[in-house]
Amino acid sequence: MKPREIVPGVHYVGAPDFDRRLFDALIPLPDGTSYNAYLVHGRDKIVLIDTVEPQKLDVLRSYLANVPRIDYVVSNHTEQDHSGSLPWILERYPMAQLLSSEPAKLLLVDHLGLAPAQIRGVADGERLDLGGRTLRFIYTPWVHWPETMSTYLEEDKVLFSCDWFGAHLAQTGLFSDCSDCILGEAKRYYAEIMMPFRKIVQKNLDKIKDLEIRFIAPSHGPIHVDPASIIQAYRDWTDDLPHNDVVIPWVTMHGSTGIMVERLTANLVGRGISVFPFNMASADIGQLAMALVDAATLVVATPTVHVGPHPMVFNAIVLANALRPKVRFASVIGSYGWAGKMPEIVKGAMPNLKVEMLPSVIAKGLPKPADLEAVDALAAAIEAKHRELGLF
Ligand code: FEO
Repeated sequence: MKPREIVPGVHYVGAPDFDRRLFDALIPLPDGTSYNAYLVHGRDKIVLIDTVEPQKLDVLRSYLANVPRIDYVVSNHTEQDHSGSLPWILERYPMAQLLSSEPAKLLLVDHLGLAPAQIRGVADGERLDLGGRTLRFIYTPWVHWPETMSTYLEEDKVLFSCDWFGAHLAQTGLFSDCSDCILGEAKRYYAEIMMPFRKIVQKNLDKIKDLEIRFIAPSHGPIHVDPASIIQAYRDWTDDLPHNDVVIPWVTMHGSTGIMVERLTANLVGRGISVFPFNMASADIGQLAMALVDAATLVVATPTVHVGPHPMVFNAIVLANALRPKVRFASVIGSYGWAGKMPEIVKGAMPNLKVEMLPSVIAKGLPKPADLEAVDALAAAIEAKHRELGLF
């Protein structure tokens, strides 16, 4: 296959993966994904930026069949979906020098078994002259792992950002079809791997704010032709102020918790609050993660299984705790059969969430009128808290 031109001298040599349905054995991929790699030709030097998941090495090999020389290989990120084919590249092009951020060097040795002598760490802001084209390396840590960096092609104004601004989407086209239509997939990706590092992502956004960018070329999903749109979306997602949203991960066993979730949802909606209930017996955790990006309040709704929460809801709590959304308030509602410590166990399982706990509502068996009035009172308390934050 011939490398596919993005602009003269800059080509795509990556691979879509239409069949992949799970990433990191955790993240659902309803639209597949891609592993993007790029070839940049200067007058004197040729550079490969990132590689592909080893399962797709044949695609990269095919693109490079008529590329006899590569002088540098840039590894923006060590995770194996981008670095996993580096050993083959370095064997095929033994004269190529592997460039990474300084913190990436040891990771590349640990994860791929590369020899330290094969890797040169570049400094933040360092430039590499290719002859008529210049790469600038910009440290952008924690746009997944601590070692991540971006590479900016100055003359063509292309930012190669790896996971940052990426989207899990497989397609044959190289570019996003429109500014907004990629934002759903991009938000899913941000939520699942970058939300825990929201504050650092904000700093990275500040770091590139004065760059003139024509294209953002990430290593998953299409190339952004309207960089301002995806950058603004990241600004919104990482902003400190949440939206007027409530997320409710829930499960019901015999209907009691379900009645309470319906009551709470209807009451909140009547107050003008957006509600995102997720039945964890069938929910896509990617959708849950996306809803958590903006939510001001998390209400965990679960029956009691033995003495604690239902395991499927517990899974949602563990995920929320790991993703560290900017949620400000939380509550627990649900039911129990004879006894239990469900609310205490739920609260104890989310220490990373810096939330103000609102009153719990726990019914014994079927919710009685007093329980439903308590659910209504919880809705009123949520509205009051959202108003204090200025979310209406
Ligand atoms: Fe696409 Fe963090 O790897």
